[in-house]
Amino acid sequence: MKKIIINGGNKLKGDIYVSGMKNAALPIIFATILTGDMCSIENLPDVTDVNLSLDILAAMGAEIRRTGSTSVIIDTSKLSPECPDNGMVGRLRGSTYLLGALLGRFGDAKVGFSGGCNFGVRPIDQHIKGFQALGADVLNEDDCNHVTAGAGGLHGGSVYLDIASVGATINVMLAAVTARGRTTIDNAAREPHIVDLANFLNMCGARITGAGTSFIKIMGVEELHGCSYTIIPDMIEAGTYMAAAAATGGRVNIKGVIPKHMETVTAKLQEMGVGVDEKDESLIVTRSSALNGTNLKTFFYPGFPTDMQPQFGALLASASGTSVITEGVFDSRFRYVEELAKMKADITVDGRTATINGVERLCGAEVKAVDLRAGAALVIAGLAAEGTTVITGVELIERGYNDIVGKLRKLGADIRLEDTEE
Ligand code: EPU
Repeated sequence: MKKIIINGGNKLKGDIYVSGMKNAALPIIFATILTGDMCSIENLPDVTDVNLSLDILAAMGAEIRRTGSTSVIIDTSKLSPECPDNGMVGRLRGSTYLLGALLGRFGDAKVGFSGGCNFGVRPIDQHIKGFQALGADVLNEDDCNHVTAGAGGLHGGSVYLDIASVGATINVMLAAVTARGRTTIDNAAREPHIVDLANFLNMCGARITGAGTSFIKIMGVEELHGCSYTIIPDMIEAGTYMAAAAATGGRVNIKGVIPKHMETVTAKLQEMGVGVDEKDESLIVTRSSALNGTNLKTFFYPGFPTDMQPQFGALLASASGTSVITEGVFDSRFRYVEELAKMKADITVDGRTATINGVERLCGAEVKAVDLRAGAALVIAGLAAEGTTVITGVELIERGYNDIVGKLRKLGADIRLEDTEE
């Protein structure tokens, strides 16, 4: 069993490099299916979800050639439309993108139910509504999602999303790029990874405009071709290290970021009394006094990211006064609170709201990562706590953080990964 062991209290100091964004890499990897050609992808993070996505494509007959530690060539010319069984796709939320990509390329997609972090019910009704607007039929099957275009193929359509869902926006884009005619997505998600996917698809010959706004237009093209593409930096990884720097004090230069993507996180840290100095492609985070409590509400981009909510929960646990966090995206994203309570955090959850009474200092304890960002929150708490923190459930953290232990150790944290047989 893997464990992360942290002796808290060291101030973080030095430079840290941010990896490519997991949530941009996943749709881009599955989008290579649409090209039926060779794509060279750079700045891929070495995280389990990305590696699993590549394994899924390989199991479907794609040729995957690693060309460096962060680069890969994917050739989907011989890909078969048959999906591997649920053992693989069921471990990943991003596998839902197979629906849009296979529907776009083969006119038919039969994909096992996806998995991913447990935040309560995670329906795909908006994805399905989008496919239907493009002329697809949805077939009821017990063990998978099955959407099919029928003999006429997909056509353009107008899609209004009831929720600005990241996954639904991506899936409709994937299905629409080679559909006949014009598709519009209203109330589209505006996250930077939507823009990254659109940029990738446009480099492959797609005609997408408006990505990054709530209204995306897609003119269908006959076919796509391969390209070379570099994934954007991971704003959530960057934000996690910003929060870690703030939790421990010291001075950390977070390099290889797009500061614009970090604006809401930067603003919240500044409200808490943390210094954030913005350079072209880096952010210097310093803290020289106690943290002030604050209130925050998560929302769709450019709101405060839900994927940074647990990390801020950990940070606010030892900030002065009372702070209130409201989760505006998912039904249930406070499962980490129970673990923080073992570290003597004083947090009460009521539905989508957590009230945090800041304590002087958290205490090390044995805790368990219950999902990816919950695990990151425990790492932050452990770095700031007095004594030793032992975190299990490390595999969940490895889904989305590229060498979190090595990166933090380089900043002076007393942290190590233990892998014992059990
Ligand atoms: N929703 C619906 N119907 C749908 C789709 C979504 O009701 O058809 C609801 C969800 O239940 C949720 C809200 O809409 O309440 C937002 O869900 P969204 O579809 O935007 O999320 P997602 O695509 O499932 C992605 C990321 C998550 C991130 C969210 C929000 C990937 C693979 N996952 O999930 O990332 O939290 O967007 O930004 O990109 C993470 O990286 O830790 C992570 C969980």
